[in-house]
Amino acid sequence: MRKVAGRSVMAGLAIAMLMALVACGGGNDEMPVPPEVEAEIAERIAPAGEVAMASEVVSAPAAASGGARSGDEIYNSKCMICHASGTAGAPILGNATDWAPRIGKGIEALYTNSISGFNGMPAKGLCMDCSDDELKATVDYMVEKSQ
Ligand code: HEC
Repeated sequence: MRKVAGRSVMAGLAIAMLMALVACGGGNDEMPVPPEVEAEIAERIAPAGEVAMASEVVSAPAAASGGARSGDEIYNSKCMICHASGTAGAPILGNATDWAPRIGKGIEALYTNSISGFNGMPAKGLCMDCSDDELKATVDYMVEKSQ
């Protein structure tokens, strides 16, 4: 997402610079640009401008949408750091042996421990902008993948 937006910003800058060049060249006697060259430049940069604008249109609503994220989305961006490798004794996703005793405590205990923290498990799993519901969905996802 960020990459796409970054690229379109870069493309936008490049186009702005090209347009500035074209504009200067047109009105500047010291640096004459033949009209056919100007037309060619304009033609070449036109599709790039359209592409940049299209990608902005695509990325803007996605970046702005504040809807609840899915469990796997949050797991992959926030929890994987510890739960993929077992950092600090974290139960590993997909490892039924790691998870069985935890699942045995009941889902409510897992929700509470994820939200409030539990030993090496930091509060909210360090997802400070996660809502309780998003954390619960992530716990559901992890449990589902680990039995
Ligand atoms: C900094 C590392 C770290 C991160 C990041 C992390 N965890 Fe953990 N998590 C742990 C550790 C360590 C434990 C084991 C704690 C223990 O049993 O002593 C754990 C345990 C858990 C448990 C089991 C709790 C229990 O009661 O047995 C759940 C559920 C859990 N994490 C969910 C999450 C979720 C959801 C996220 C992401 C939002 C997350 N964790 C991010 C380190 C982490």
